[in-house]
Amino acid sequence: MTKKLAIFGSGRGSNAEKIITYFTDNVNIEVALVVSNITDAGILSIAADHKIPHVYISKKDLQENTSVVIELLKKHEIDFVILAGFLLLIPEALIAAFENKIINIHPSLLPAYGGKGMYGGHVHEAIIQNKETQSGITIHLVNKEYDKGEILYQAICPVEKNDDAMSLAQKIHVLEHRYFPNVIENYILGL
Ligand code: GRF
Repeated sequence: MTKKLAIFGSGRGSNAEKIITYFTDNVNIEVALVVSNITDAGILSIAADHKIPHVYISKKDLQENTSVVIELLKKHEIDFVILAGFLLLIPEALIAAFENKIINIHPSLLPAYGGKGMYGGHVHEAIIQNKETQSGITIHLVNKEYDKGEILYQAICPVEKNDDAMSLAQKIHVLEHRYFPNVIENYILGL
């Protein structure tokens, strides 16, 4: 039975693009829905380009009409929710409806540089500011405490003297694009 993914994102959608491409023609897993809280997010255009159903969900809908969002996911027979640069907190009702089936990617080696305010460029700026010598990605399950769910995978990259937040972000994106689809596949097939 093909497992169906919904990808939630708020940005460019480069991770979503990699995931969609990776699972194209895959008999076990398919991307069946893309969701964004930003009406003109790149991730929605990527879904349209790949002819994947996609919806805009406002922050208010997500937080105050969570049951409607859950209904939408059930209507699309979604089995797993993938957070790829989704900047809103996932309501507890949604976490409960998809227990151990929501996977997030974070652009640092959690628990370091996680939690409130630590997203996107802010993470890389803090790491450069603190003269860290390495950074990386964390792929983890989402639970009520958000960035504290079970870690599925981490990959490390060096932070060199001449790195700035931009060059570090590029290194992190390379790791994300290389590992996120495969970690999703391994987790789902391993259940
Ligand atoms: C990624 O860096 C991811 O780690 C973070 O948000 C960014 C999403 O980038 N959660 P994109 O929209 O997939 O290009």
